[in-house]
Amino acid sequence: MDFTLTEEQRQAAEMVRRFAETEVAPIIREWDRRAEMAPHILPRMGELGILGICLPVRYGGQGFDYVTLGLVCEELERVDTTLRVVMSVHVGLCSLALLQWGTEEQKQRFLVPQAKGERYAGFGLTEPGHGSDAARLQSTARREGDVYVLNGEKMWISLATKAHHFLVFARTNPDAPKPSAGLSAFMITGDMKGVTTGDIHGKLGVRAGSTGWIAMQDVEVPVENRIGEEGEGFKIAMSALDNGRYTVAAGATGLIRACLEDSLAYAGQRETFGRPIAQHQLIKQKLAYMSLWYDTARLLYLRAGWMENQGLRNTRQTSMAKWYATDHSVKAALEAVQIHGAYGYSDEYNVERYLRNSKGAVIYEGTSEIHQLMQADYALGYRQDKPLRCELPAYDPEFWQASPSE
Ligand code: CAA
Repeated sequence: MDFTLTEEQRQAAEMVRRFAETEVAPIIREWDRRAEMAPHILPRMGELGILGICLPVRYGGQGFDYVTLGLVCEELERVDTTLRVVMSVHVGLCSLALLQWGTEEQKQRFLVPQAKGERYAGFGLTEPGHGSDAARLQSTARREGDVYVLNGEKMWISLATKAHHFLVFARTNPDAPKPSAGLSAFMITGDMKGVTTGDIHGKLGVRAGSTGWIAMQDVEVPVENRIGEEGEGFKIAMSALDNGRYTVAAGATGLIRACLEDSLAYAGQRETFGRPIAQHQLIKQKLAYMSLWYDTARLLYLRAGWMENQGLRNTRQTSMAKWYATDHSVKAALEAVQIHGAYGYSDEYNVERYLRNSKGAVIYEGTSEIHQLMQADYALGYRQDKPLRCELPAYDPEFWQASPSE
């Protein structure tokens, strides 16, 4: 495994770092206080090609690989978690699922405008009563001729009121031999009759982001909007989560880096007992741990990204990277606040926001407890990955960078 970054990967990360530092860092405190998403963020991310960074040019993307997706997420969350959340749902959970499972016609209809940033995408799996136990979700899809009629509610949905497209999951067969086998996946659009959405207010973190709910009441969804076969919904959801978790892992790595960088700067200038606090051993210990957590988290997500480039199944490695990086981003944020003392307790410094933002990611896209169970089951040999009917394609530069006409 060679972790040397290519010139293209470095340039893409650099472009995104510049965007985040110059266009978002100066305004993020204000939008976080207002608990609103700045309206220009999504269009600007689309304009810069970030929303289609790792998608083939023929599908409206920029033609970069999966490692670049990780690097971009790290750079975005180094400045603010809300930016990376956009990548997790729009690219990780929806666009890559379409690349993996969509027909050519569905890719043209949904993936191309998403990759170009003309349409934003969300992911509707979680429901008010079903989070970790996703297989038992309650939404239903009843086939009636050429349409499915969808009913149900989705909760904690990022970009619920901003997205145009949603990849949603509903039960098509209540009598399936096991709950996971009765689910199917559908693309719905926010303008379909019977779809309503709303925002959730009062969140601990990611306040400058958009989180909400979707209600579906007798929504008629054409059969050609079904992604995959009937009964494949759970596998589509889980494989989408492999990609989403990869972006969360890389983003949380960026959050650890932000905590470390801000702490290094503060510890170098703040003095107590006649010297900078960086020279006190107990502060040094915190900085040492934060460096260890950053390097470990980065290596774990790069391994997963490298495997994805090779077309190797990486459910175990991605789950480990997500579990480690998010747990340690909370620890790093706690230490960063501690190093900043009372200043860290106010939003005068960024570390207060880092701490609030860090907590969500140990809950969404698989709680840390779910990832621990998965890791134990892999170690015990209880859990094995089975080949899928549609695998996420390996990164092939020729295919990825060819223009639509080639
Ligand atoms: N890819 C493809 N298929 C997979 C898969 C994967 N990663 N993981 C499992 N499958 C397949 C299995 O092979 C199995 O196939 P068969 O039926 O042919 O045997 C089928 O799915 C069912 O598998 P299991 O019954 O073994 O279920 P599991 O143990 O894999 O899953 C679980 C159980 C780990 C608890 C899972 O339900 C889970 O991950 N729960 C967490 C859900 C979650 O992360 N929700 C986040 C919501 S999205 C969000 O938060 C985004 C946002 O907007 C903020």
